[in-house]
Amino acid sequence: MELSPVQLTTLPLAEVAADYLAVFMPEQDALPAQLAELDQLLDGGLTKLRNRGDLTGKAGEVTILPLISGLSADRLMIVGLGKPETLKLTDIEKAVLLAVRKVAGRKEGSLAIDLSDPALAGLGTSSLVQTAACAAGYGATTPGVYKAENDRYPLKETLLVVEEQSTELAQAANTGRILGRAINLARELVNRHPEDIYPETFAARALEEARCHGIECEIWDQEKLKLEKMGSLLAVARGSDHEPRAVFMRYQGADEAAPTLAICGKGVTFDSGGLSLKPSTGMISMKADMAGAATALAAIIAIAELKLPVNVIVGIGLVENMVGPHSYKLGEVLTARNGKTIEVHNTDAEGRLVLADILSYVAEAKPKGLVDLATLTGACVVALGEDISGAFANNEDWCGEVLAAAKRAGEDVWPMPMFDFFDEQLKSDFADMKNVGTKWGGAITAAKFLERFVDGVPWVHLDIAGPSYGESPKPWRDVGGTGAMVRTLVELARSQADS
Ligand code: BES
Ligand code: MN
Ligand code: ZN
Repeated sequence: MELSPVQLTTLPLAEVAADYLAVFMPEQDALPAQLAELDQLLDGGLTKLRNRGDLTGKAGEVTILPLISGLSADRLMIVGLGKPETLKLTDIEKAVLLAVRKVAGRKEGSLAIDLSDPALAGLGTSSLVQTAACAAGYGATTPGVYKAENDRYPLKETLLVVEEQSTELAQAANTGRILGRAINLARELVNRHPEDIYPETFAARALEEARCHGIECEIWDQEKLKLEKMGSLLAVARGSDHEPRAVFMRYQGADEAAPTLAICGKGVTFDSGGLSLKPSTGMISMKADMAGAATALAAIIAIAELKLPVNVIVGIGLVENMVGPHSYKLGEVLTARNGKTIEVHNTDAEGRLVLADILSYVAEAKPKGLVDLATLTGACVVALGEDISGAFANNEDWCGEVLAAAKRAGEDVWPMPMFDFFDEQLKSDFADMKNVGTKWGGAITAAKFLERFVDGVPWVHLDIAGPSYGESPKPWRDVGGTGAMVRTLVELARSQADS
């Protein structure tokens, strides 16, 4: 989907023409400078509203004042930002999302957003522009992929009002636009139902996207997966009529000698749990069990579009975990690509089995650093809640780099412990390991399992079971796929180019 254009303008606020002009209002005593000026057009109307408690600047407050004489925009929209002392880029992002969602309720709406307030300058004008352009890019998109009539429409135009134009700001707007589109891609793939997106169709979509962006893309079918001895991944796929696939993508943005960043994604296009069947309540959102794969794909597309001077490889394992006469069984022993044997104790712990083979293959290329993304465990959601990704690593420096990238990208990731004794839980009487541990610390044992397949390559596993999918709507975002971690991965790639 093409996005509506994002333009920068330096016009005085009163002269900016749009359906809505959004101006931010922090939770503070005085009106911010921009609003104080507009207050004059309203004969002190804003001050009156403030004094009556209608305009507090609290986060999430949206006040719309139509048809102000002297204002070119049809409506002034004042969006609360919350306390100015703690103001972060993510607060701006949420405020922009609220504004965009308001405007997107009409067809062909246009929105101007004031970013010229000196009080915001501390956040960095480029970062503000990038954040706003990105949010404008995905804020109007709904999960209603299959609805005849959607609840929101793409904006006709987004104008970002800045104090001064520069190539740096134009670039920031473009970066934001590209990130917004990548987030939309990840969201769309997650939101599509499992008879629309299954291994073959996901792989076809990856190939199509790769071709459009000059990325190398290789698809492995079942035969090739057998030849490559991906016995762990293949076992999970056995219960399904949909054949598995693996997708490998390479983006060469720097010379051959430059270090490579590797990204792997869990692509379980539907997770019924297999013979260890999930109850309906746990199964309903399992079309989203390919969010890691969607995130990895979206990230490499954005990295290529931004022409970042890095080398990136992506490895995606695509299977459907189903129940059938050929389903893999409890007690069955699988042989993974790296020769290790795995006794299956729970067919619902399938993500790690899929990733095991993908990680071993990608680790063979000896990348500088490896990151995998997976909706791996409910336990991680229990530990960290729905909005925070867990980070599990075998290398502190690499983990530090990933966490720092997440922080700069404004995404919440928290490091989790990887104590050796969790490894003991994976001991099997019949094979090198079993695929589950005990009842407790399940997110860690899952990560400990994966660690056995990365062959010592610096690696971070991001468990995105919570943040990749919104179970309930929030004022600034919908239910369904969120596109979480796309920005972190792109920022990580960008920072590799610096180092
Ligand atoms: N895909 C699930 C994890 C999941 C749960 C993702 C909830 C998003 C929301 C994964 O394959 C799974 O079923 N994990 C099991 C592991 C257990 C059997 C050790 C789990 O978390 O219950
Ligand atoms: Mn499962
Ligand atoms: Zn799963």
